[in-house]
Amino acid sequence: MQTYLRGRDMITTQEWTKEEIDTVMDVAMELKRNRALGLPHAYLRDKVLTMLFFFSSTRTRASFEAGIAQLGGHGMFLASSATQISHGDTTKEIGEILGRYTDGLAIRHCDWGVGTQYLRWAAEASRVPVLNMQCETYHPFQILADLQTIMEKKGDPRGKTITVSWAYAASYQKPMSVPQSLILLMTRYGMNVRLVHPPEFKLMPHIVEQAQENARKHHGSLELMDDFEAGIKGTDVVYAKSWGAMNTTTDDEEGARIIDKYKDWITDERRMAMADRDAIYMHPLPADRNVEVSDGVIDGPQSVVFDQAENRLHAQKAVMALTMN
Ligand code: CP
Repeated sequence: MQTYLRGRDMITTQEWTKEEIDTVMDVAMELKRNRALGLPHAYLRDKVLTMLFFFSSTRTRASFEAGIAQLGGHGMFLASSATQISHGDTTKEIGEILGRYTDGLAIRHCDWGVGTQYLRWAAEASRVPVLNMQCETYHPFQILADLQTIMEKKGDPRGKTITVSWAYAASYQKPMSVPQSLILLMTRYGMNVRLVHPPEFKLMPHIVEQAQENARKHHGSLELMDDFEAGIKGTDVVYAKSWGAMNTTTDDEEGARIIDKYKDWITDERRMAMADRDAIYMHPLPADRNVEVSDGVIDGPQSVVFDQAENRLHAQKAVMALTMN
């Protein structure tokens, strides 16, 4: 267990050692147990978390705000559109000034080619931990909650197979931060990761290389596939969601045309039956129901999406308690 995490940024799990992430899991389980028992756990009394959003959110905002309150602190919500950022506040001002007012700076900025750099620059200027509530490259808190969920449902992840697949959704070109963070972390936990997508939906090459290296180091595997059904066959975890074709085109109309070629990539009961009989279905939400996944699967007995969403609260509280104390 690594006990000195005070002041650390969480921009990607890749920058934390496996032992440090094991510590997060341990604390997250403990905090979940404490909440179930009604035991107080105000480890961050009087601390304030800034929550700066450049993009909409349901789960991330609600779970961070509830989490910091349950830890005895306060969450300060800032919509970027209601700040002076468009009138000149730079990342230096955001990092420096909000870092002086509060004890943690959480940011969601998913703009392609902009978000990750924004977080990096804010972190350079900030004296307090910067927590990544999702950028275009990473969604670390989603994936910590996912790891916690897999451990709860499937036990030791080592040797288990997870299918990280693209799925059809027409709503918009969604960020690829979830599949990227999944392949980075699950390979470090010795899982056999199948990354499945049509050819136009490649992830960022440096992330795939890092995941391959993680698999080599931690006795996992990363298999790249382009057949949805072959990817699901016999798997232990079906994690299928949509993301955009931004590595092929950043033009939204062309992206939408490419997405529309693959309307049959839906996780339905027939496909779910191809997985292991005890397989679980995961999705970070929001899902495009009956487009990306059928009601029968997402509301069915193999779906763990609500436990997965709940674990956002516990995993985030663990990182806040460890870094902001
Ligand atoms: N999964 C997730 O990040 O949900 P929100 O976009 O609602 O925060």
